[in-house]
Amino acid sequence: MTVMPADLSGIDVRAEIERLRKERNAVILAHYYQKPELQDLADFVGDSLELSRKAAETDADVIAFCGVKFMADTAKILSPNKIVVLPDLDAGCSLEDSCPPEKFKAFREAHPDHIALTYINCSTEVKALSDVIVTSSSAETILQQIPRDQKIIFGPDRHLGGYLSRKFDREMLLWPGVCIVHEAFSETELLKLKAQHPGAPIAAHPECPPTIVDHADYVGSTSGILQYAKTMPGDTLIVATEPHIIHQMQLAIPNKIFIGAPGADGNCNCNICPYMALNTMEKLYLALRDLEPRVEIEEGLRLAAKKSLDRMLDMASGTIGLGDLGAR
Ligand code: 13P
Ligand code: SF4
Repeated sequence: MTVMPADLSGIDVRAEIERLRKERNAVILAHYYQKPELQDLADFVGDSLELSRKAAETDADVIAFCGVKFMADTAKILSPNKIVVLPDLDAGCSLEDSCPPEKFKAFREAHPDHIALTYINCSTEVKALSDVIVTSSSAETILQQIPRDQKIIFGPDRHLGGYLSRKFDREMLLWPGVCIVHEAFSETELLKLKAQHPGAPIAAHPECPPTIVDHADYVGSTSGILQYAKTMPGDTLIVATEPHIIHQMQLAIPNKIFIGAPGADGNCNCNICPYMALNTMEKLYLALRDLEPRVEIEEGLRLAAKKSLDRMLDMASGTIGLGDLGAR
């Protein structure tokens, strides 16, 4: 259900958000792929792992999540007593859509000797069917804690799974999902751009296909790419991920140049995430005013999904290993 902005003429939306965030004791969390104006007023901007951690530890009464549905669901799974609002409930994800729970369940059942290592970009139902959740910033640390003889199903992003598989020389059964945004980068156009800026390194998100990742000087999560931008040699960076992250780069390192990697038409607009783009200032204002649309999750499902998320949070910050998967 898309929230249709009411007639907000005469309303100072930004001032109202400021008033309501205090009145509601709300924390505003935003992903790097959100519009700059949403990033600018958020209490915290981060990657999927950082946002999960913030959602788990906040003492706010309301979490206003400027991101996509699986991120707001994760916040609700980890903070069930908070009200979690998402400005537009239609803000989904092509990776989540690629992995219907009943098909994933059947796939798991067909491979009973495999554990399911699952990217956080999936539904709550798929999280409940998984052993360990990973984000792009935690996947490498977590994979290295899994014994080499343990067979693994990795879903739903076949590019992230393929990247991990190649980097760590680990065979994994890959679910065939892709991110429509990172899939849209063009190798031909990237190489043309690189020829125009021969000294500029390329930073790519591991959701990109190998045709892009193989040209990258740095591969990592959104936070990782941002960190690389701060420390990279030279003054120009080619950025192969959703271009709204460039806003944070320009704020942090205003004297460097950041160029979004192009899509097939040579124009990087096709790499704007259409789901992330559904959230607006107006919809955030309405969400804080009405405390709708809310994310709700049935308690049994929430507890089942929380196990694989808790395992991620533990394994991402230490080396506790897989533990007792029999408890799943
Ligand atoms: P990270 O911010 O964790 O790198 O994830 C990127 C992404 O595509 C989120 O949907
Ligand atoms: Fe999903 Fe890709 Fe959009 Fe991230 S950028 S929310 S992975 S469609």
